[in-house]
Amino acid sequence: MDLGLKDKVAVVGASSKGLGRAIALGLAKEGAKVTICARSEDVLKETADDIRQQTGSEVFAIPIDISQPEQVESLIGKSISHFGGIDILVNNAGGPRAGRFDDLTAEDYETAVNLNLMSTINLCRAAVPSMRTRGGGRIINLTSVSVKQPVDGLMLSNMARTGVIGFAKTLASELASDKILVNNVCPGIIFTDRIQQLATVRAEEAGITFDEAIEKMTADIPLGRIGDTEEFANMVVFLASEKASYITGTTIQIDGGMVRSLL
Ligand SMILES: NC(=O)c1ccc[n+]([C@@H]2O[C@H](COP(=O)([O-])OP(=O)(O)OC[C@H]3O[C@@H](n4cnc5c(N)ncnc54)[C@H](OP(=O)(O)O)[C@@H]3O)[C@@H](O)[C@H]2O)c1
Repeated sequence: MDLGLKDKVAVVGASSKGLGRAIALGLAKEGAKVTICARSEDVLKETADDIRQQTGSEVFAIPIDISQPEQVESLIGKSISHFGGIDILVNNAGGPRAGRFDDLTAEDYETAVNLNLMSTINLCRAAVPSMRTRGGGRIINLTSVSVKQPVDGLMLSNMARTGVIGFAKTLASELASDKILVNNVCPGIIFTDRIQQLATVRAEEAGITFDEAIEKMTADIPLGRIGDTEEFANMVVFLASEKASYITGTTIQIDGGMVRSLL
């Protein structure tokens, strides 16, 4: 199937590693030009080189902290100057710290809102004018299954990510007449550095092996395994494509059946 992504321009947030990297790679494989970003310049450069080598597509790498509004503005401005505009925006950031109500300070809440909610709003504010000029676009927000079924001990994720859903649903209606489609994707457990670290910590705490910790994490997943980053990226690439032309305002989990809610 031709997804119609050749020569489209995409900006992917937090994309030197993990889910963001897999999405940037997936889009580049379809012939899109991609801007990637992250804080650590060395890893970002390696990722850009690797994606170029694997796909032959153009990759523009900009080191930024996505929780800082002026750096987001600079990311979008440089990307527009470099590629001439933006067609696809994938909003992603690092995860907020774990913790329950009693563990968290007011500053922790503010940091999480800046990282996981305001970054999405700021990226949209900066990118939408270019999409309008180009006659349409796609916005895809990475959240978590916590927006469908809050996860115990992850107060900040449960709190900040649901704000993204309300923002996106409203934006989807407001931007429909501009042919800009807005959707959310929710990873369940997808194997990245973050999951590897989590399993290592859980193994140490419970005095079990790494494999046993992974087994415990998959116990609640009907498909019986952790997802692969490419399996996750495939959904985002589809939503970014011309083929997803009648899908907007949705929130889709990619979780092997883990969420038990009906919608
Ligand atoms: N993997 C899962 O199963 C899963 C499940 C639910 C939700 N999520 C959420 O999905 C997002 C991505 O997770 P992941 O598993 O791909 O994580 P990861 O493998 O740890 O990768 C995180 C990426 O984000 C970048 N990053 C982090 N903070 C940033 C910042 N302030 N500004 C710019 N870039 C930043 C990192 O690079 P630098 O550190 O160099 O900046 C790295 O490239 C997170 O919000 C996570 O909580 C993941």
